[in-house]
Amino acid sequence: MSAKTIVITGTASGFGHLSVRLFAEAGWNVVATVRKESDLDTHAGVENVKTLFLNVDDEEADLAFGELARSQFGRVDALINNAGYFHSGPLEASTMDQIHRQFQTNVFGLIALNKAFIPIFREQRSGVIVNVSSISAEAGFPYTSVYEASKAAVASLTEGLHAELAEFGVAVKALFPGNMATRIFSKTDRAQDVPQDYLASWDRFASLNVVRSDPAITAAVMFRMVTDGNSRTVRYYSGPDGDAIPRVKQLLGQDWYWEEFSARNRGESTPLWDALMPSPKA
Ligand SMILES: NC(=O)c1ccc[n+]([C@@H]2O[C@H](COP(=O)([O-])OP(=O)(O)OC[C@H]3O[C@@H](n4cnc5c(N)ncnc54)[C@H](OP(=O)(O)O)[C@@H]3O)[C@@H](O)[C@H]2O)c1
Repeated sequence: MSAKTIVITGTASGFGHLSVRLFAEAGWNVVATVRKESDLDTHAGVENVKTLFLNVDDEEADLAFGELARSQFGRVDALINNAGYFHSGPLEASTMDQIHRQFQTNVFGLIALNKAFIPIFREQRSGVIVNVSSISAEAGFPYTSVYEASKAAVASLTEGLHAELAEFGVAVKALFPGNMATRIFSKTDRAQDVPQDYLASWDRFASLNVVRSDPAITAAVMFRMVTDGNSRTVRYYSGPDGDAIPRVKQLLGQDWYWEEFSARNRGESTPLWDALMPSPKA
């Protein structure tokens, strides 16, 4: 049997870049996508990787991408919808254009790609789709509401698809990465003209999140999600914070979690919170 093939979007940097290497080293064929023509050589020299241009905002290109990707190595077995970016700021200062763009990339592009690959996987009665959400969708951070709403949409979509496609042997899974040191934060699309009222609290909140974990932790979870043969688990988490937040929520219950988490976001975390939340892993 020929080597399996995976398609990974948004591979110029971060989790996508690292996971291309993991799959290629494990003997997979990889169709890696990049958003900028200038990044087409980003995986040059890595064996069994074909790098294609795809701006996931282009739904027509997304919908045609299943067949284009399959034609690269003659088969396709898995898809990681990783491409995405971070919009941040108080909602009232985010323009509707910024909000639409955030959903275009993080949600509508991802939905179009799911649509492109589902018929292929359904017909062959096998396939894994990993949709990248974020722990922020579960945690509920301030100044992040648009991003986390887009990532919550990804999580819900994935759960619905998991139930819809299981009978065809297709596993659809959502990944909730914790806070990881990638380039995403140097490219943040920030709300402009933010009222003075917010600035002190937003700055204090930002200063709480500067220590981030090693993104290789997330790439390793991506690899596991595709290769573990587990079609029962829908939600996978990565990083000390990614792993801890759902557990702490379960332990404390929603209301108590919310009280503790809100205090932490004001820079007033309690000893209980500090004991429950592990430090980032560099
Ligand atoms: N880092 C974190 O803490 C964290 C936590 C939770 C979830 N995530 C999610 O993880 C995924 C990967 O992010 P990362 O942290 O690895 O950041 P990253 O290094 O910025 O990688 C994101 C990739 O997505 C690409 N991309 C952005 N918009 C695109 C578009 N319209 N079409 C095609 N590609 C596009 C970027 O391309 P360019 O290089 O051209 O910009 C980049 O290659 C994202 O979905 C992000 O929301 C990240």
